[in-house]
Amino acid sequence: MGSQLDPPFKRLIMVSYRMPYKIVDDGGKKTIEQSSGGLVSAIVSLSASLDGDKLFRSIVWVGKADEGEDYGVVNQANSNFQLVPVAIDKQIDEKYYGGFCNDLLWPLFHYFPSLAVFDESYFENYQLATAAFADKIRSIAQPGDLIWVHDYQLFLLPMMLRNNLPGANIGFFLHIPFPTFELFRIMPRRWCEAILRGMLGADLIGFHTFDYCQYFLRTVSRMAGHEVAMNAVTLDDRVVRVDAFPLGIDYEKFHEAARLSKTVAEEKTKIFSTLENQKLIFSIDRLDYSKGLNHRLLAFEFFLDAYPQWVGKVVFNMVVIPSRDTLASYQEMKRELEATVGRINGKYSTIAWRPLVYQYKSLSFSELVALYDSSDVGLITPIRDGMNLVAKEFIASQSSGKGFLILSETAGAAAELGEALLINPTDKQEVADALNRALTLPARERDILVSRMQERLRRYTVFAWARAIVDSVGAVKKEQELRKVNVVTPSDEADIIRKFASASRRAIFIDYDGTLVALTRVPELAVPSAATMLQLERLTAQPATSVILISGRSKDFMEEWFGGVAVNCIAEHGACQKGPGEPWQCVIDSDQGWKTAIVPVLEKYVDRCNGSFIEEKFSSLAWHYRNAPYEIATVQAKELSEELRSAAAHENRLHVLEGSRVVEVKRTGYDKGTAALKFISEKTFDCIIAMGDDKTDEDIFRSLPTDAITLKVGLKTTLARYNLRNQFEVGRFLERLIESDKAGRIA
Ligand code: UDP
Ligand code: G6P
Repeated sequence: MGSQLDPPFKRLIMVSYRMPYKIVDDGGKKTIEQSSGGLVSAIVSLSASLDGDKLFRSIVWVGKADEGEDYGVVNQANSNFQLVPVAIDKQIDEKYYGGFCNDLLWPLFHYFPSLAVFDESYFENYQLATAAFADKIRSIAQPGDLIWVHDYQLFLLPMMLRNNLPGANIGFFLHIPFPTFELFRIMPRRWCEAILRGMLGADLIGFHTFDYCQYFLRTVSRMAGHEVAMNAVTLDDRVVRVDAFPLGIDYEKFHEAARLSKTVAEEKTKIFSTLENQKLIFSIDRLDYSKGLNHRLLAFEFFLDAYPQWVGKVVFNMVVIPSRDTLASYQEMKRELEATVGRINGKYSTIAWRPLVYQYKSLSFSELVALYDSSDVGLITPIRDGMNLVAKEFIASQSSGKGFLILSETAGAAAELGEALLINPTDKQEVADALNRALTLPARERDILVSRMQERLRRYTVFAWARAIVDSVGAVKKEQELRKVNVVTPSDEADIIRKFASASRRAIFIDYDGTLVALTRVPELAVPSAATMLQLERLTAQPATSVILISGRSKDFMEEWFGGVAVNCIAEHGACQKGPGEPWQCVIDSDQGWKTAIVPVLEKYVDRCNGSFIEEKFSSLAWHYRNAPYEIATVQAKELSEELRSAAAHENRLHVLEGSRVVEVKRTGYDKGTAALKFISEKTFDCIIAMGDDKTDEDIFRSLPTDAITLKVGLKTTLARYNLRNQFEVGRFLERLIESDKAGRIA
């Protein structure tokens, strides 16, 4: 795994709700104990590799401070691994962690919406606690750090950090499933939006599986309206990558311990001495309804009934790790579980045999590996699980040549462990059949299947996982760098102003929608504000300046709003134009007959795609889909373009154009570029500025002379020389042009 390359980042700042260690008071003597949970196992493995791998010079772990803990014990032990505790008030924590995290997000994201509790105060405390994390991180973050935020307890953190540290390198990884849009949207809209916004503060968002990525991207496109393409979300100022990184394990640690460790061997001897030739079925999970514990017991009971030949010959050892036991729902679940264990044991036990051994406790590493390796079946049947590391550890620990895995298809790990017996955890018959099959699997078949899985786990370990995420953040950063090369800097702006102020004949082309005015859901509502109108008047009052509004809008719309202002108008993408106070002139004939064949095609798409509508102009017909569900509409837009192209094929005077959330059929022979060129060819200008946000504005940028100052609104790749970050910057930029003239010409 070692890398000879310089690490791309200096320090790793891990951020998770849980600290990776607990300080345990062992009769007055303080010892450090690694906490349970998938994430902790993973990163402790990662940090252990520091010397060999040099992934980071050091790791800082920010987590919630546990009451009375002395983190100095860990910090003194290793200067390359420092714990930074965040103090969170107990009352806040109850509503933040116990409430919003575990009473709402956990059940909802694990497909238990009926257990979700919606409480406004939970959300308020979720925000408060996240702010405490953000404050702490801001106080320690340095340029070059990679801040890696983990899990659903910290959804809001990436954006909180981004707001104060705009250039920070931020990765986010979700350890639980991301649900489908329909489940996610059950939460109040404000919470949904805050969560999505929070996550999108990161440069890279990682999930365990491809499905979770898809669900997230769909939710972003439906709820946040951002452009989503492949595995990227394009925001106003950044691109965010979204990808699947299945969490791996430290394969060798488990595999070697199972094969070679003396303590594991001793544990195995103890286990075999209690078995007396019975087959061992084993499971271990945290106490949680998502783990399907009660269903599992019922399936085991069903198995004993369906396959009586196994009665007296198998023992099911179910270990449950204490977790979240202060929550009422978990206490209730524990009671229910214990009652089921008692009932099943009561039903089948004899003097010589008890089918279920139930233990509510944590295990040491050696006990765990010994149980994995001594079992005939690992019965891992969560109802939903983001990943499930236990399944992977079970396979990695197979050295005795007998254990086989039964795994829920609803666990993230199933995507990588396809050779296991994959079952539906609620289907008792299926689980029972799988148990029988696993217990009777021919040795050769078992060996082949297990070694295939082992090989996969050996390659994609937790180290590879961490490396893939770190590399991906580095790659996104590079991509962002490339995309933002044109952002106009203060010194560029000063040069532009100087050139403008010293010119004697200036032309300023300003696109309308998305440039002069912000885009709105309904085009009729996108009208210029009083401030914008005033700015235009002040600009046109400069004798040396010609202002040209250049738009795809209809000439009637342009006339209505700008007929009384001393601007030049180019409407309908260049089909019609007029000078101040002059009549309109159109470059195409007035035939409208071609529309008869096109309107029914567009109407068909309006019927199919809720929220879309047709706009009719003199020279074109447009199908707008900005108010329609993005995902559906983009597919429909592609289909419509195809259909229109074939409908217009025999009409060489028609052209199909795909703009920003619009498909337009227009007459050929003109575009914004030719119109702009015509305008400047009629007079001589010594300073030309053009601003636009849309694909059609690229025609202007392409046509103008190379010394023209062209500005793209928004951070997209463009033919323009510069980018303005967003539409708000247009007004500010125009203001500077106006002020520069007032201030007098700069030599
Ligand atoms: N584990 C533990 N203590 C134990 C038993 C198991 O820390 O007594 C570890 C186990 O090795 C695994 C993790 O807890 O790495 C459980 O991770 P998993 O992904 O299976 O479930 P989660 O607890 O994250 O829901
Ligand atoms: C899962 C979550 C972790 C959590 C762990 C233990 O693995 O993804 O974020 O820490 O369960 O849960 P607990 O509530 O005890 O921290």
